[in-house]
Amino acid sequence: MSHSQLQTPYFMIDEAKLIQNLETAKKLKELSGVKLVLALKCFSTWGVFDIIKPYLDGTTSSGPYEVKLGHETFGGETHAYSVGYTEQDVLEVADIADKLIFNSQSQLAYYRHLVEGKASLGLRLNPGVSVAGQDLANPARKYSRLGVQAAHIDAQVFDALDGVMFHMNCENKSADSFVALLDSISEQFGQYLDKMQWVSLGGGVFFTWPGYELEKLAAALKAFAEKHGVQLYLEPGEAIITKTTDLVVTVVDIVENEKKTAIVDSATEAHRLDTLIYDEPASILEATDGAPHHYVIGSCSCLAGDQFCETQFSEPLKIGQRLHILDSAGYTMVKLNWFNGIKMPSIYCQRSSGEVVKLNEFGYADFKRSLSQWSV
Ligand SMILES: Cc1ncc(COP(=O)(O)O)c(C=O)c1O
Repeated sequence: MSHSQLQTPYFMIDEAKLIQNLETAKKLKELSGVKLVLALKCFSTWGVFDIIKPYLDGTTSSGPYEVKLGHETFGGETHAYSVGYTEQDVLEVADIADKLIFNSQSQLAYYRHLVEGKASLGLRLNPGVSVAGQDLANPARKYSRLGVQAAHIDAQVFDALDGVMFHMNCENKSADSFVALLDSISEQFGQYLDKMQWVSLGGGVFFTWPGYELEKLAAALKAFAEKHGVQLYLEPGEAIITKTTDLVVTVVDIVENEKKTAIVDSATEAHRLDTLIYDEPASILEATDGAPHHYVIGSCSCLAGDQFCETQFSEPLKIGQRLHILDSAGYTMVKLNWFNGIKMPSIYCQRSSGEVVKLNEFGYADFKRSLSQWSV
């Protein structure tokens, strides 16, 4: 099937690009001894897990259904974490998780007895230091509810624990700054870490970014693991699927109000939500910086400020033309929603062989069912 025959909007995951990232992940594992579990909150499109499985050690999750999905479709180690478990959640995940990580000492105290003898027990700690560009995504922000701060630790809880998890990075592209965080963690929590079997350092380490100092990161991870006598984990999401996937859309109209806006058959609010939440404009494959034809790439939703980006093209855009919105895998497919009843993008994978495989498609029935199955 050629791409031009596919109906937009759709996501196209490129296997060859995915494998490039996974090879970097493999190198990091070999150099450092770290284990890597895929953060399903970022990317859960299980139709491509057969490509990822040989490279990573398992999955980590942020809610009970992700635990189940990781266990069922990925296998390997299944880490279960949630900011707030109900008792029912704990009962459900304890049987299928290898590690169950609580967010607070109170949740640990309530539910520990349901986990003992089933999964390895962990607690999230908050180091109070972080590298995150935006406050919204900063786990160490003021009044953070994510993990236990050093000052609030009851030292006795470590007697019951096998491991701890930290997560304090968001798209951190600097190995040096990560090493500084490790030093701070060692200094604040070292006495406790020495008693643990495993430590997860969370996600947000952008080790597949071009020019990332992978060897420096690997050496620091190895030294940290040896110093504290622990098996280290990272929980990469974005680093694994960055730059692998386009969201392909069609220009359906062009309007002008001081600026020209090309309206496409997709919306950030429904299909690429983080564009809006983090105010991070998308990049378009067909655009050329500084070229003469300036457009806002606007969405077909009703939200006034819903736009993908403003950019330039060497030729005027035409209705019916396709645009490729780059780097659209992370935190997109997991956040798809039916706002405005806009057609949801299909999901495809372009295999390294060139073959295009359909992973999902959605229709009116899916929209309708998501709203009610039964009427009064
Ligand atoms: C606990 C935890 N682990 C891992 C991740 C994955 O982060 P990223 O996709 O930036 O690597 C996140 C992201 O929010 C997280 O909260």
